[in-house]
Amino acid sequence: MKAPSPQPRVVRVAVEPPYSVHVGAGLVGVVAQREEGWSRAFVLTDANVERLFGDIARGWPNGTIHAVPAGEDSKSFSTLERVLDALVAAGCDRRSGLIAFGGGVVGDLGGLAAGLFHRGIPYVQVPTTLLAMVDSSVGGKTAVNLAGGKNLAGLFHQPVEVYADTRFLATLPDDEYRSGLGEVVKTAVIDGPLFGRLSALQPGIARRDPDVLAEIVESCVTAKARIVARDPFEKGDRKLLNLGHTFAHAIEHAAGFGRVPHGIAVAVGLGLAAESGRIAGLGVDPGFVESLRALLRDLDVPADLDALRRRYSVSLPADALVAAMARDKKSRTGVPLYVVPFGPGAVVRDVELPESAVRAAIELAARS
Ligand code: GLY
Repeated sequence: MKAPSPQPRVVRVAVEPPYSVHVGAGLVGVVAQREEGWSRAFVLTDANVERLFGDIARGWPNGTIHAVPAGEDSKSFSTLERVLDALVAAGCDRRSGLIAFGGGVVGDLGGLAAGLFHRGIPYVQVPTTLLAMVDSSVGGKTAVNLAGGKNLAGLFHQPVEVYADTRFLATLPDDEYRSGLGEVVKTAVIDGPLFGRLSALQPGIARRDPDVLAEIVESCVTAKARIVARDPFEKGDRKLLNLGHTFAHAIEHAAGFGRVPHGIAVAVGLGLAAESGRIAGLGVDPGFVESLRALLRDLDVPADLDALRRRYSVSLPADALVAAMARDKKSRTGVPLYVVPFGPGAVVRDVELPESAVRAAIELAARS
């Protein structure tokens, strides 16, 4: 790992109570210093992170490490119960805290366990994937999956601190890295200025330069923190962060959950949302649709359904995608609601799109 940057970047998330997201290369030692006041620190991680970075967690004082199996299956009620029992077995009480050390699964599961244990103990997020750094570790959404769908049981419980150490990204598998880049591009479209900067940062992104990644994570977290502070409980503008997700959930569902990484489905969903808006005649800039695809290709992230099918050997029939979207939880009276990007920094929520436009965009993306 490269030597730590001397000055971490700090983004404040102005919710109640507020907290900081520390971003930089080489931060993890700081975690222990901050959490010294806890009676015990319960480190929740997964087997992969423990194998790669367990020594780091073992250096945090007063801690117990509990590793769940890596993968989405751990975001379940049965795993949650085991984590809560392990908190008791470790001697944790209401003065203890939890450190969620891993990707989105560990963050969502750990946040929920912390929200439930003794009716809520503090927790710190130490994300180890790009997707978790730029999105899921910030904002306090926690959840496990139910048989009926993803993230159906959860609560809002904000962390007390987030430490995004970009050195962890050096060992991330390529697909997980690309998945994080999908969420980066989503946030960049919502933000506006970041969208323009990403092409220039592409060489650093390709070589996973920790300082370039720290700049990107800081920008994404800043954009997300602004929205979360306005709407912590997703009553309104926080829905903007679901850009691309109606299509993405349909893709993940039609492909079979786990086949297409979430952020990659989001990347394809961004193009489909923009294209559907353009076809529906809403005034989406066609040049933007093209520059979005070009950026994703530059970042080696699949930009359309055809690329997705080839890379993951999945069949994604238009009928299956349209049917899955009609069942989407953002649907009002059976009509799915979309977030539509008109251009960088110009994103509108709660848009009803005609099914014909959505279907035409899917068919176009399947031929690209
Ligand atoms: N991942 C979207 C949100 O946190 O609202």
